[in-house]
Amino acid sequence: MDAAQRWVGTGWKMTKTRAEGVAWARAVVRAAAERGGESAWPGVQPFVLPPATAITQVAEALRAPGTSRVLVGAQDAHWEDSGAWTGELSVPQVADAGAQMVELGHSERREHFAETDERVALKVAAVLRHGLMPLVCVGETAEQRDAGRSVDVVLTQARAALGAAGDRRCVLAYEPVWAIGERGREARPEEVAPVVAALAGLVVDSGGGPSRNPVLYGGSVTVEGAPGVLEVPGVDGLFVGRTAWRAEGFVALLDLVSG
Ligand code: PGA
Repeated sequence: MDAAQRWVGTGWKMTKTRAEGVAWARAVVRAAAERGGESAWPGVQPFVLPPATAITQVAEALRAPGTSRVLVGAQDAHWEDSGAWTGELSVPQVADAGAQMVELGHSERREHFAETDERVALKVAAVLRHGLMPLVCVGETAEQRDAGRSVDVVLTQARAALGAAGDRRCVLAYEPVWAIGERGREARPEEVAPVVAALAGLVVDSGGGPSRNPVLYGGSVTVEGAPGVLEVPGVDGLFVGRTAWRAEGFVALLDLVSG
């Protein structure tokens, strides 16, 4: 991965049927073709995390010439490879479906599905064991920010995940809980800066000397607000929900970041 590379990705959460996912993918393929195919969005690594039901078809639709660079991933995976875990999917299963990366520790999973730092760490190890890329979400609640604990909370979450990664890199997404979703508000650059600086300080040495884990910002990202946050030192890209659920929004952000 090139050090100057930036990332733009979207997680679809519990939205979209397979047909809707394929329509989105085809629109992104068309946009890439209009921008030079393989050379579209230079310097940017796009990715999409559909619901598990749509991973295979979205990956196939994106394999059209020109968009082979769009990574496809899952929104979660279990730490065991197989077994009696009703309703769960393992890393080998999501990889078999076409996932190249796995999102872990999203605040909605931390809040509603007992996704603890310990479980995130087990899952990071499983994802790396199978050669996929972990995308680890970290972020503080409004109460924790008001108490001045943002950096502390986020570093604790990130250290737990990175401890399981050893000398391998993870993509980190700083997603303040108060910034996410319908009731959230996009964080201001000055709110993002100190937390991202702390995350950017967590270096990893994979053999070629210390390097940073890429750090993305997520939480009510808009096309209008993105330029401000992208100027924050240490921000390597965007992890986006609602704005990118429409292909036009995703393409607009790719154009912005690559431009
Ligand atoms: P949002 O979601 O952009 O819709 O706020 C972001 C996220 O949860 O990753």
